[in-house]
Amino acid sequence: MLDRSNDTSLSALLQRRVPGYTLEAAFYTSDEIFAADMEAIFEKHWLFVGVEPDVPEPGDVMTVEIGTNSVLILRDDDMQIRAYHNVCRHRGARLVLEEKATVGNLVCRYHSWTYNLDGDLIHAEHMGEGFDRSCHGLKPVHVRSLEGLIFICLAEDPPEDFDEMARVMGPYIAPHNLRDTKVAYQHDLIEPGNWKLTMENNRECYHCGANHPELTVPLFAYGFGFAPEELDEVERQNAERYGCMVTDSHSAWEAQGIPSRCQEHLDDMVTGYRTERLPLDGAGESHTLDTKAASRKRLGTLPSDKMGALHFWTQPNSWHHFMGDHAVTFSVIPIDANHSLLRTKWLVHKDAVEGVDYDLENLIGVWMATNQQDSDLVGYCQKGARSSAYQPGPYSPHTEMLVEKFCNWYIKRMRAHVQPGRSADAA
Ligand code: FES
Ligand code: FE
Repeated sequence: MLDRSNDTSLSALLQRRVPGYTLEAAFYTSDEIFAADMEAIFEKHWLFVGVEPDVPEPGDVMTVEIGTNSVLILRDDDMQIRAYHNVCRHRGARLVLEEKATVGNLVCRYHSWTYNLDGDLIHAEHMGEGFDRSCHGLKPVHVRSLEGLIFICLAEDPPEDFDEMARVMGPYIAPHNLRDTKVAYQHDLIEPGNWKLTMENNRECYHCGANHPELTVPLFAYGFGFAPEELDEVERQNAERYGCMVTDSHSAWEAQGIPSRCQEHLDDMVTGYRTERLPLDGAGESHTLDTKAASRKRLGTLPSDKMGALHFWTQPNSWHHFMGDHAVTFSVIPIDANHSLLRTKWLVHKDAVEGVDYDLENLIGVWMATNQQDSDLVGYCQKGARSSAYQPGPYSPHTEMLVEKFCNWYIKRMRAHVQPGRSADAA
C-alpha cells in the first residue's frame, strides 16, 4: 500500500518511495526538491553536455549552464578538451556570454583580466607588486571525452566509475568516429516539465505506438516490449522471430568487430548507463522516414550502411543514437522544477555537404517531430503532478522496467546524499 504520510521532508519522501510506482508529486513539482536535485545529482555526477565537434579548433569555446553554474568547455592549443568555471577570478564576471565563441585568450570585458587557454591568468593591470597572478587562474572543471562525447562533473571528486563505463562503451562508440563528424544541426527545446519526467519518458517506448508516427517507421513493434500473456499464437511466434533476429544481428555485427550486445548498468553504478545495437526495419539503415541513410558519407570505420541503431543512455541526463550515416545526441539540463532544456545535436561525417550529401530536413525530421511529441507528453504529466488528484501510478513490468531503473538510481543517489535525519522541506 502507498504510504499516505503527510511528512513531506525530502528524507521521508525518499524513505517511503514505493518500488514499481511513479514518484510522489513533490519530486516533480517542489522547488526545494529541485534545489536538492541540482546539488545532489547535477553537481555531483557526470553530465553529458556536448561533443568534440562543438569545439573543433584550438580556441573554440562552448558554454553550458548547469543551474547557477556556467562552464566553459574549450579546445586548447594542444587539441585537448578543457573545462573551467566561466567566472572571472577578479570580481566574478561571466567571461563568455555566448553559447559558442572562438577566442585567442579569454579576456574579461570588465577590467580586461586575460586568461590563456590553459586557464592561467596572464594579464591583470594595476594590481600592485604583491599580486600573484598564479593564484588567480580559472577554476577547472572535471571533463572527459568518451570517444568524442563530452562529459563534465562539477564535484571536486567525481564518481570514479566513469572509467569503467568508458572502458566498456569505448569500443561500441569508436567505430562511428564522432571526432570525425560535424554538428549538422542543433535544436534546443524547453520542455514544460521536470527533468525527471523528460528522462522517464525517454526510458520507455510504451507510448511510442500511440504517439510517434515518425519514430516508429524504422522501429520494430516488438522492440517496444509486450506482455507475453496477452499475445495470441501468431503474435507469440512473431515476437520470438524478433528476438531471434536481434540475437542474429548481434552475432553478425560482433563477428565484424562491432560490439552490439546489451550492456546494462542503469541502477547498479553511480555512473549508470545502458547500450545495445538494435536492427532497424525497412532498409535498416537509419532513423529516417524512408529508413535509408540520410547522409551519403558513412561514419567512421563501419563496415556497412546497415548498422541498425546503437543506443547509449547515461544517468542522469543523456541518450544517444548512433547509426551508419549519422548520430543524434540528447542532453537534458534542468531549468526549474517545471521546465527542462532538451538539447539535440545531429552529427554527420565532417566532409558531408548539406544539399549534396544530405538533406537537412530529412536528417532531422524524425527526431524534430518526436521531440515535440515527447515534450507535449512530459507537459501533460507535469500538469497531472500538480493536480490534487495525482498519486503515484504503477509502471508496466513489461514495458517500463527501465523507467523503474531510472527512478531506483535517482532515489539511491538522493538517499546517499541526504544524511539520515536531515530534512528539506518539500511542501
Ligand atoms: Fe573580470 Fe574585473 S571582473 S576583470
Ligand atoms: Fe517518446
